[in-house]
Amino acid sequence: MRTSPQICKESGHIYFSHDDGVLRLLDQRLLPGREEYFSCADTQDAVYALKEMVVRGAPAIGVTAAWGCVLAASELLRRGADAAVDWENELEKLLEILADARPTAVNLVWSVKHMRGLWLSRVPDSLPRLLAVWKAEAARLQAEDIAVNKRMGAYGAECIDRGDTVMTHCNAGVLATAGYGTALGVIYAAHDQKKNIRVIANETRPFLQGARLTAYELKARGVPVTVACDNACALLMKRGMVQKVIVGADRIAANGDTANKIGTYGVALLAKAHKVPVYVAAPLSTIDRACPDGDAIPIETRPTHEVTHMGGSPVVPEDVPVYNFAFDVTPAELIAGIITEQGVLAPPYGRSIAEAFARAGADNP
Ligand code: MRU
Repeated sequence: MRTSPQICKESGHIYFSHDDGVLRLLDQRLLPGREEYFSCADTQDAVYALKEMVVRGAPAIGVTAAWGCVLAASELLRRGADAAVDWENELEKLLEILADARPTAVNLVWSVKHMRGLWLSRVPDSLPRLLAVWKAEAARLQAEDIAVNKRMGAYGAECIDRGDTVMTHCNAGVLATAGYGTALGVIYAAHDQKKNIRVIANETRPFLQGARLTAYELKARGVPVTVACDNACALLMKRGMVQKVIVGADRIAANGDTANKIGTYGVALLAKAHKVPVYVAAPLSTIDRACPDGDAIPIETRPTHEVTHMGGSPVVPEDVPVYNFAFDVTPAELIAGIITEQGVLAPPYGRSIAEAFARAGADNP
């Protein structure tokens, strides 16, 4: 297994060991202070890791869910369910629990559906055979995510000019994907092209993905990064300190409306007021064509203690209610381009998204 900071340079924070059948996840709750792995031996462990944000970020959630399917099959096998008539029912129940772990990132449902589809279409008639098929597929999805991110990086780097300061919100990097990153993948590609860019990482209350994770991995890779409080955004833009905004996405509707970390919508509105272009970087698997627009995207609300407490200490008086919406939706009209593995999509997104899927289908007939 690789250890940090190598992890932050490429991949390795999601690691399935074929020796003991355990999925190990770099525990993102502890970063940047401690680099420890969380072990998932069964589906419940994987669901806990997803819910508690041991692992987070839409593509990383999707890859973890694929390995979660593997854990579900091996768990049943350990329980001797192969001999029982209804292992299929047991497995369906575990997959359902897995798919329900978090609601907004479409990659989770996409991944479980994909693995389930493989099971039902090939009808592997025994758990050991299904387990082998799923292990190979989870590994393939993990490798494919990195390849897709690199393609996005190459397209997206074209949107960044020499000397730009790029603002990003949340963490859409190595840690949020199988490796490399979506929004940060674009930044890595521009950095590798020696475009002399700088990054402003919004701290991203309440989980602090920007301050803790984005700054951690950009620093490991040698990209100049400054952390700013979320509420500094207007001042920084007013002073001309931001030339581009690039963010990731958890779910993009068919019309281009984009759900991403809470606060992204506010950043996009401020960017419009200051004439700063906003780009979203996401693979086609993050686009949910069944959602016509942003109103159809489910928004996760998370436990209140994430807002009321910091480092275990209260920052809100006891019994005062708080809001903890984890995501918001940025309307398509605030987005200058959607960077995908099929190129940078331009508005109107209804058309460019449909064309990108048609091209992807032609690539993978
Ligand atoms: O709650 P999180 O940390 O899972 O939210 C993550 C984000 O909002 C990311 O920006 C998004 O998933 C894109 S990750 C490539």
